[in-house]
Amino acid sequence: MEALVLNGTKKLDVQDVKEPSLANDEVLIHTAYAGICGTDHALYAGLPGSADAVPPIVLGHENSGVIAKVGAAVTDFKVGDRVTVDPNIYCGKCRYCRTGRPELCDHLSAVGVTRDGGFEDYFTAPTEVVYHVPDNVSLKAAAVTEPISCAVHGVKLLKLTPYQKALVIGDGFMGQIFVQLLQAYGVHQVDLAGRSAEKLQNNKDNFGATRTFKMPEEKIPADYDVVIEAVGLPETQEQAIEATVKGAQVLMFGVGKPNQHFSMNTYEVFQKQLTVQGSFINPNAFEDSLALLAADKLDVLSLISHELDFNTVEDYLTGKLGTVSKAIVKVSEEA
Ligand SMILES: NC(=O)c1ccc[n+]([C@@H]2O[C@H](COP(=O)([O-])OP(=O)(O)OC[C@H]3O[C@@H](n4cnc5c(N)ncnc54)[C@H](O)[C@@H]3O)[C@@H](O)[C@H]2O)c1
Ligand SMILES: [Zn+2]
Ligand SMILES: [Zn+2]
Repeated sequence: MEALVLNGTKKLDVQDVKEPSLANDEVLIHTAYAGICGTDHALYAGLPGSADAVPPIVLGHENSGVIAKVGAAVTDFKVGDRVTVDPNIYCGKCRYCRTGRPELCDHLSAVGVTRDGGFEDYFTAPTEVVYHVPDNVSLKAAAVTEPISCAVHGVKLLKLTPYQKALVIGDGFMGQIFVQLLQAYGVHQVDLAGRSAEKLQNNKDNFGATRTFKMPEEKIPADYDVVIEAVGLPETQEQAIEATVKGAQVLMFGVGKPNQHFSMNTYEVFQKQLTVQGSFINPNAFEDSLALLAADKLDVLSLISHELDFNTVEDYLTGKLGTVSKAIVKVSEEA
């Protein structure tokens, strides 16, 4: 079978590999689709994702497919089931796992990061991280359950209620997911700041955004109870703090560089009683994400701009494809 193997820093090869062997509590998944995100950019460049990837390794932590085999001890899944995998596997034993914060696990491993993921025809996962895809959700949409779940985790770390006015900074894939998600969680007004006039208009026309700000030309007023920073630059992190009203919550979702800082008026944090909240990966969020997809509360298909194959992944990672909103690899025909 075919796999796209990361053999070293910036070294990706399409290779013929052996079908993986299956442990008793695992399923073998015939991959349908695998999404690509900033984590894959980092791993390709030799930087850590949620954990370190040690080559040779098959990436593909965002994925969907159909079960081809089940291990001897598996009872909840059968051959032919349509599934998606939460990539993160927690140890269950460290002080973070034992205090209800598994995402902070000291021994995190992950499908598509520390063990082979969806950039191959067949991959394995332990059933504890495998989820059935609802019948009315396509395997293409299900392949982005993981990034949706990161946004769901962020939203669950906030206290949301309908009266709030929210601002999302960043009109990438994640920012546009947040626009829809905040409304699904009951927030009555969601505004969006971004760089693409076309995406801003589309979010007004189709995703329920009320007001948009074209950056960097337009100024954001200090008007928001909830601000989601989904860019990861110091300037947008500063803007996120400055856009708040008293009692506001700021979710720092964007990933900055490891040594990056931004400046913040700490008097403002005191006087406005701000909450500045970080957000890391996607614990306990897959059920919510799949329910939102099944209930048609999230349009993800129109946000997927590029469908790639194993041979074009490197073109994307090296920037040859130009502006990419969201890329997904079609690994096999959708079942
Ligand atoms: N916390 C988590 O668990 C988690 C999970 C997934 C992604 N992320 C991070 O979230 C961020 C967004 O992810 P993405 O996939 O949408 O990335 P992306 O690169 O597709 O989107 C970033 C967007 O920000 C826009 N932008 C740039 N400068 C801006 C500015 N000054 N004002 C407003 N918008 C601006 C860009 O035009 C782009 O559309 C990234 O930093 C990513 O690493 C975090
Ligand atoms: Zn991802
Ligand atoms: Zn742990």
